[in-house]
Amino acid sequence: MRSASELIRHKRDGGVLELDEIRYFLSGVVDGSIPRYQAAALLMAIFFRGMADRELADLTTAMIDSGERLEIGSSGPKVDKHSTGGVGDKVSLCLAPLVAACGVVVPMMSGRGLGHTGGTLDKLESIPGFRTSFGAAEFARLVETNGVVIAGQSESVVPADRILYALRDTTATVASVPLISSSIMSKKLAERLDALVLDVKVGTGAFMESVDRARVLARTMVGIGESHGVRTTAFLTSMDQPLGYEVGNANEVAEAISVLRGGGPPDLTELVTVLGGAMLEAAGLDLAGARIRSALDSGAGLDLMRRMIEAQGGDGSVVDRPETLPAAARARRLRAERDGYVASIDARRIGVAAMQLGAGRRTMTDTVDHAAGITMSAKVGSAVARGDVLATLRFNDARNVEAAAARVSRAYTLAGRPPEERPLILEEVG
Ligand code: URA
Repeated sequence: MRSASELIRHKRDGGVLELDEIRYFLSGVVDGSIPRYQAAALLMAIFFRGMADRELADLTTAMIDSGERLEIGSSGPKVDKHSTGGVGDKVSLCLAPLVAACGVVVPMMSGRGLGHTGGTLDKLESIPGFRTSFGAAEFARLVETNGVVIAGQSESVVPADRILYALRDTTATVASVPLISSSIMSKKLAERLDALVLDVKVGTGAFMESVDRARVLARTMVGIGESHGVRTTAFLTSMDQPLGYEVGNANEVAEAISVLRGGGPPDLTELVTVLGGAMLEAAGLDLAGARIRSALDSGAGLDLMRRMIEAQGGDGSVVDRPETLPAAARARRLRAERDGYVASIDARRIGVAAMQLGAGRRTMTDTVDHAAGITMSAKVGSAVARGDVLATLRFNDARNVEAAAARVSRAYTLAGRPPEERPLILEEVG
């Protein structure tokens, strides 16, 4: 067996690592016998050299084997959805209970927001009492009770990813197709799913700004899923403007609830319906679209969201009275300086502005103000007159409001003519 430094050299020079070499390296990273600086060096070598298909499948296997796999006793098909991250992306909050209401088991392990992208766990924690941290056994028990749970990755699942992800975040090695795909897929495959639906975001608010790069990432993740026997489908979806009207935490929970009450914004409702239908199809259910619409219309999705919140220690009455969620003390409205049409909204700028108001974190140790955020009144294609409100900033801490307001103003581009309509769902892969 080559030593850690020999493995780094081999990869640096374009070599391919073997499964036992990757296992040796990862177990050394997890037990501390291989120092973080050697792990960082290997990550940078992978970043520049990429990985062969077989080598990437081996990396994913070794990541999964660095910890425990979930043991869930539920009898129905287990299907999850994962998004590569965007701005205003609150799909998981309403999708998981909606799909579970159709009889599919959804053991959803989600993450926290970092930088301009929001995180499902932070959003859910704006519900008073809601817990997102469970051991593997309690996670399994919750799934068995209601058919759905949304929680953080438990300590014992893919511990190698926790260490590598933190290193990547500080060594500029996040945006690498093999590293992103093995990180996401190892966590999803540790859930022992029957099927997985991936929402690969493309655009200014996403990791992948071009369709070509996003397609490579999607195909890579689908390939890993299939090679592990999990039916995997990916959708490339637009993240050129935030999803829905709300960006933040509590306000995004309220917007997700509005989808399950039948009054959600059209783009968010469309994405939830398409991804939900794909999850049911992947679970082998017929008439997938009709089942999703029926769970929306009958209120079954809303009922299950209430039960899921209560099972996780939260106040389930928020689904009936979302106005009781935390609200910011102050607001600042930004208005159009001229008549026109909204030609584009830079999603990344909106995400960074929300973070500046307190809704997100710059580093993993920052605390989140669940009430802070941005409400957009005008989206791409909206006609606006001079003086109309484009967006409202909501905040408790006024320190960065001027900078956030300037950023939101720069995010909006107005034009004399309406822009061409662009589809939300760009492509299906898999
Ligand atoms: N999400 C993950 O879990 N890992 C990545 O590498 C990127 C996004």
